[in-house]
Amino acid sequence: QNCILIGAPVDSGKRRAGCLMGPDAYRTVGLSKALTDLGHQVTDLGTVTPAAHPPDEANSRLFSLNQTIGWTSALRDAAESAMEQGLPIFLGGDHALSLGSVIGVANYAARQNRPQFVLWLDAHTDFHTPQTTDSGNLHGTPVGYFTGREGFDGFPAVKNPVPEENVCMFGLRSVDTPERQALEGSRIRRHDMRDIDENGITGPLAAFLDHVAAQNGMLHVSLDVDFLDPSVAPAVGTTVPGGATVREAHLICEMLHDSGLMTSLDLVELNPFLDERGRTAHLMVDLCASALGRRVFDRPTRSYQ
Ligand code: ARG
Ligand code: MN
Ligand code: MN
Ligand code: MN
Repeated sequence: QNCILIGAPVDSGKRRAGCLMGPDAYRTVGLSKALTDLGHQVTDLGTVTPAAHPPDEANSRLFSLNQTIGWTSALRDAAESAMEQGLPIFLGGDHALSLGSVIGVANYAARQNRPQFVLWLDAHTDFHTPQTTDSGNLHGTPVGYFTGREGFDGFPAVKNPVPEENVCMFGLRSVDTPERQALEGSRIRRHDMRDIDENGITGPLAAFLDHVAAQNGMLHVSLDVDFLDPSVAPAVGTTVPGGATVREAHLICEMLHDSGLMTSLDLVELNPFLDERGRTAHLMVDLCASALGRRVFDRPTRSYQ
């Protein structure tokens, strides 16, 4: 694989600052070496900057709206062009970066005449629109945006919305009422933590991967640090107890690698300012390595199609 690293230090998606240090933390841990050690080629494209935008007002209901719009168009373009070179890995940055990364890869998929799928690994559904968000934090809106919900005035038009039935979420345990209501009327596949407790990861994930493979889909994976339990991944502003274990997260990543289906990846919401001696950054890099083929022993695996 040619892995394309893209620094996306988006910090405009919420009020607590620090995610802008994420790309530096991943580089410090040694993401690039972890991937070359697995036999991949790695190209680091450096750091994206937001497109020119008007200044944001200090006390508006939506936090840093204009800057987030600037990031969305810059990251859309970066994503669409990186897809031509290999497998882009977006080094976040908060989850507002997925407003841009997902619509960019979906534009590329449409050019290839292939359907775009999204695997969303998160405590949250991030299915708000700028109209429904109570916090005014736009990192809670990317799924609403890329599935084509209305209410994103001023944002770039979503040329190729991802069909709801092509989105699968794991790890949910904090969903706001307007998000729940909208989700219940949607075809998004959603697995909360109770579902993982009762059924495990492998069955539901294999079913989704089979579906992606059967449609010859492209698969974008968006990994939010808060998918993980805060006891193993403290470096995030929106911790929610009861998250995925280290092994559950590795299992997902290992299955992703076995499937050969992942075509792009976001690593989001790492706030190195909140980390403990780099342990969260290190775990995120280890998970990324699992998704790109790190394993203890080879074993015959099912093929997900
Ligand atoms: N639903 C909450 C909100 O709208 C939390 C969103 C958290 N999103 C995230 N990407 N961490 O503020
Ligand atoms: Mn999120
Ligand atoms: Mn989250
Ligand atoms: Mn390690």
